[in-house]
Amino acid sequence: MLAMNYRGPQRVRVDKKPMPEILHPEDAIVRVTRSCICGSDLHLYNGNVPDTRVGMTFGHEFTGVVEEVGDDVHKIKVGDNVLVPFNIACGKCAFCKQELYGNCHEANPQATAVGGIFGYSHTAGGYDGGQAQYVRVPYADVGPTVIPEGMDPDDAVMLTDVVPTGYQAAEMGGIQKGDTVVVFGAGPIGIMAARCAWLFGAGRVIVIDHIEYRLEFVKNYANCEVYNFRSLEDPVLFIKKTTDSLGADVCIDAVGAEAAGSTMQTITGRKLLLQAGSATALNWAINSVKKGGIVSVVGVYGPTGNLIPIGNVVNKGITIRGNQASVKRLLPRLIDHVQNGIIDPKALITHHVPLEEISDAYRIFADKLDNCIKPVLVVSER
Ligand SMILES: NC(=O)c1ccc[n+]([C@@H]2O[C@H](COP(=O)([O-])OP(=O)(O)OC[C@H]3O[C@@H](n4cnc5c(N)ncnc54)[C@H](O)[C@@H]3O)[C@@H](O)[C@H]2O)c1
Ligand SMILES: [Zn+2]
Ligand SMILES: [Zn+2]
Repeated sequence: MLAMNYRGPQRVRVDKKPMPEILHPEDAIVRVTRSCICGSDLHLYNGNVPDTRVGMTFGHEFTGVVEEVGDDVHKIKVGDNVLVPFNIACGKCAFCKQELYGNCHEANPQATAVGGIFGYSHTAGGYDGGQAQYVRVPYADVGPTVIPEGMDPDDAVMLTDVVPTGYQAAEMGGIQKGDTVVVFGAGPIGIMAARCAWLFGAGRVIVIDHIEYRLEFVKNYANCEVYNFRSLEDPVLFIKKTTDSLGADVCIDAVGAEAAGSTMQTITGRKLLLQAGSATALNWAINSVKKGGIVSVVGVYGPTGNLIPIGNVVNKGITIRGNQASVKRLLPRLIDHVQNGIIDPKALITHHVPLEEISDAYRIFADKLDNCIKPVLVVSER
């Protein structure tokens, strides 16, 4: 089969790889139909995630057709059209029982660091991902969900990560009616978080980025205020000034380790690797939220550590919440929201690219070329 093959930082290509096989009675093999590239893949692509091995296939956002199931799989069957959450979760451990499917304790030998994730390095379990024609899906009765009849395949693939992550970013913010919510990052996740902030009762939603076409998009899509941090002398001061000098009620970090905007953070986090990426957006979030406010972090950082102003967290009485989204927990309500037209995920998809052209797709998305917001690989049968 054809599959994405990681060759080292900024080098990916498509190669022939052996077909995946059922290794456990709870496995399924899925023939992939659509597979996205995510901002999270950029951390791998740029070599920022420990134990990302050459030869690995990325891809944690995919839909497909069930090709084969193990003897202990009963909820999906051969021929089903499924969307597969990015979390690999056993469904039975103490964390899964609390619906913390992003924190499963069984799916990853490094479970104290993170749960299992498709195509996300050996730090996240070492599973090959779905940027391929076929993929092995463990615990196939837990994650894979039959795509409702009539749902657009582009909407379905966005339900594997972007929609639940944006929604959970807003949910973790504990937004109260009338709150001012600031979202850092106008990538797919920040755009979805801004849209979902209204569903929780926000009174004002502000999005900060430095890429004009993305700010323009989110302004219309999420009906929010947008600001380019390159044209602000100091983003923190600006947010304070526009919120009666007290700060925002809720700040959301939808940027993570690739953040721009601070030379010190970029040098220590991205050039010298003295910290797990650059924590610029997180610093801005902590410093511009009001006293007693909530900072919700969905931006991904490596498992080592980052320079953040912990003194400000304590002295301002801030609550910081973060997690990998618990996709399965959120799917029933988010499928409803998509079917009822409350959320329109496919509007974020700007590029449909054949799997064979994956290296171009990564470059366009990573370098924010051609007004790219979200690229989807379209995978054909061979
Ligand atoms: N927790 C989860 O479950 C989960 C799931 C999916 C993605 N993520 C993470 O969410 C983050 C965003 O993902 P994405 O797909 O939208 O990525 P993306 O790379 O498309 O978007 C990130 C955006 O942040 C902007 N940015 C850079 N520095 C900034 C700064 N200092 N302030 C404000 N904006 C800044 C960039 O210009 C870009 O538009 C990534 O870190 C990704 O790993 C987390
Ligand atoms: Zn993703
Ligand atoms: Zn579990």
